[in-house]
Amino acid sequence: MFSLSLASLALISLASTARGQAAGCGQTPSFTPGDFKNFTAPGDREYRVWLPANYDSSKATPLILSYHGANRVISRQVELDKLTDPFFNKDHIVVYLQGLEVSRPGHTEWEGAPDCKSDDIGFTNNVLDAVSKELCVDEKRIYATGKSQGGGFVGRLACDSGLSKRIAAFAPVSGAYYIKEIDNEADCHPETVKVPCNAARSNIPILAFHGGADTTIRYNGDFRSGACLPAVSSWAKQWAARDNLDQTPVNTTIAQSDNGVKMSYGGGLVSLVYDGDNIGHDWPSTQTNADNEGNVAAFNASTAIMEFFRSHKLS
Ligand SMILES: *[C@@H]1O[C@H](CO)[C@@H](O)[C@H](O)[C@H]1NC(C)=O
Ligand SMILES: *[C@@H]1O[C@H](CO)[C@@H](O)[C@H](O)[C@H]1NC(C)=O
Ligand SMILES: *[C@@H]1O[C@H](CO)[C@@H](O)[C@H](O)[C@H]1NC(C)=O
Repeated sequence: MFSLSLASLALISLASTARGQAAGCGQTPSFTPGDFKNFTAPGDREYRVWLPANYDSSKATPLILSYHGANRVISRQVELDKLTDPFFNKDHIVVYLQGLEVSRPGHTEWEGAPDCKSDDIGFTNNVLDAVSKELCVDEKRIYATGKSQGGGFVGRLACDSGLSKRIAAFAPVSGAYYIKEIDNEADCHPETVKVPCNAARSNIPILAFHGGADTTIRYNGDFRSGACLPAVSSWAKQWAARDNLDQTPVNTTIAQSDNGVKMSYGGGLVSLVYDGDNIGHDWPSTQTNADNEGNVAAFNASTAIMEFFRSHKLS
């Protein structure tokens, strides 16, 4: 009798793990669906959580992590990604994390930036642990997006031996993929430099965006702030290689853009969107936003990001 009930208990817990149900399932959240709430993680780290209006604590709910750019704050990222606007997202929890000012006052940044020593991998794990305790997070549908150095950090998450198994898909925008291990300009060859990576699986979905007129983080790579930046096309091709995909992308032109093209590897498991010759260091949007100052793109990156996230989950 005793061993039989232990066995069935084990089966029950296996079944709930298999469904990817978080401890927060069935619990009433401490804030109202449709609202934001500010939280603090260990180390006094700030993050802000948004609940979709239809949040139901009995339903496993997908979650998006969003990382602002260097020198920026959460509220700027909320304005840029618009992922709390029902036009783009009605059914994913969105968690905005705040980077620390570690190297100088006012200069917020993420782990992976040349002079940054904060543990943002640890921060991200702590946030996911805490949020999953309060909310019914679908642990197979956790996603990450971010802008500029926040996008660079999303690339680091995809290369992290732990979080590459916890996050289902990654969508960096105008990413600064600093390789700080190469701190000498003479050794920085953007077209061929190898991106260090410890991804724990070889089926990682990536959707990256970059503009041809980005003079902050250049599409063709650069040596910047004492670190090497790979050419973005080479960065994407290295993901195709890690995922064992054909190295020649299928190109699709982007209507009404200035030579914009989506380069897809493996049927879109890895894609790079070249936003257009005229798009700068922006979050592409057909509307004016804080980045583009009216130089709008032919498409909304957030629409493409939501479609991409919806089509991937952990197995
Ligand atoms: C969260 O913090 C920001 C400042 O970081 C503040 O503007 C906002 O009002 C806070 N939101 C809530 C719901 O307390
Ligand atoms: C795809 O587009 C990129 C960017 O315009 C270009 O460099 C590359 O040659 C194209 N590849 C193919 C197979 O057309
Ligand atoms: C882009 O998003 C805005 C909302 O921010 C929307 O009004 C507009 O129609 C969208 N554009 C396209 C092409 O979907």
